Parts: sequence; structure tokens; C-alpha cells
Amino acid sequence: MNIKLQPYVKVVRKPYSHGAIIRDNFPGFKEDYLAIHSLIRKYQPQRLCEIGTSTGAGTKVICNAMGIKWWQVWKRFSHPSFSMVFSIDVPPGTDPSIIYPQHEDGHPFKAGAYNPLPYVQLFGNSNEFDFSPYYPLDAWFIDGKHNYEFTFNDTKQALKAGPNLLLWHDMQIDEVEQAVLDCMKPHKDYMVYRVEDTRVGYAVRV
Ligand SMILES: C[S@@+](CC[C@H](N)C(=O)[O-])C[C@H]1O[C@@H](n2cnc3c(N)ncnc32)[C@H](O)[C@@H]1O
Repeated sequence: MNIKLQPYVKVVRKPYSHGAIIRDNFPGFKEDYLAIHSLIRKYQPQRLCEIGTSTGAGTKVICNAMGIKWWQVWKRFSHPSFSMVFSIDVPPGTDPSIIYPQHEDGHPFKAGAYNPLPYVQLFGNSNEFDFSPYYPLDAWFIDGKHNYEFTFNDTKQALKAGPNLLLWHDMQIDEVEQAVLDCMKPHKDYMVYRVEDTRVGYAVRV
């Protein structure tokens, strides 16, 4: 299996890019999250799970791309039966040095604090978490710990749900790309892409 390069302009184009929340708090994020928005709009998943909530800035882009509106902040839209977006992070108070001993990243003070749109916050270790009570989950955004082991296991977790769309952030990291390749290799029914000039990778069923 190899990763096919997809030109940015083939992914981020109208009508898919329409209505995106522009995120530009870090160099390159504008293009990355426009690609994520456009891919969600193109493939129209019903229920998406994000691995790695952090502040929720990415969750907000995802909720918006899924068509969730602020006025849906009713209890029912945040109930697992009705919700369209789920996101997992480590439990509050987790010592960052356990997952990030080299201080390469960290946990947010409050997971999802920057996302006002309704979604279901999950807490736990993504590698061991039982996501099945939240199925169907036909799309995943994998953006947890960016090393080989975690990316491989997070991708394996996502594949258990039989999704139509998988998205990865930080595919420019060699270990992340290798983990995606190795984990996706037996799954010949998916095509894996990298969006050119971004850190975004994705896979869709062929
Ligand atoms: C790069 S940040 C996520 C950024 C976010 N997806 C966005 O788009 O803004 C990575 C997050 O993954 C969380 N994380 C790392 N390892 C994890 C694990 N094993 N289980 C759950 N969350 C994890 C960290 O606590 C951190 O908040």
C-alpha cells in the first residue's frame, strides 16, 4: 500500500469548502482545517469520533462541518443517542508527563473548552477505550499522541467501527505516516491519501 498525494485544490474547493470555520492560530492550520472541513462535507458522515479533543478548537470545526448549529445546545443533542460528534481525551487531572515525558505536547486545562457546539465528551485512554457503545461511528479524526504506537492503535480502534472516512492530523511526522501505512495495509478496501501542502491524511473506502 502507498499513500496517494491529493492536490490541495482538489480537496478544498466549492461547494465543500463553503461555510468552514477558519482556524489560523498556528502556521498551516488554516489549510489543514479547511481540508478537514471539506472532506467531511464531501463524504457526509453521520457520526464522527475525534481522538484528542484538546481545547476543542478542532472539535468546533468538525461540529460545524457536520452541520451542527449553536441553537442545538439542547440536552438531547448532547445525548449519545442523538449526538453526531464524539471526542475523547485523557481524564481531567492526568499527569502530562505520563503521555508526554519530553513535554512534546500537553493536555488542555478543560477538554473542549473552546467548542460551544454540542458534542459528547469522552474521557479515557483512546488505545484501550471501548467505543462500541457509541457506534455507529462512520468517521474518525485521529489526532491524539503522535507516535507510532498510539497512531497505530488509534487507527486500529477506528477500523473496528468499519468507518467510511478516516482523517489523520500531523501525517508529516514520519512515525505517524508509517503507523497509518502499516495499520491500513491489510485493509485493501480503503484508499489512503495525503492532502498536498497540509498535515492531513485521509482514507476512504474504494
Ligand atoms: C494535538 S492535541 C489534539 C488537537 C485537537 N484534535 C485539535 O484539532 O485542536 C492531542 C490531544 O490528545 C490527547 N491524548 C494524547 N494521548 C491520548 C490518549 N491515549 N487517549 C486520549 N487522549 C489522548 C492529549 O491530551 C491532547 O489533548
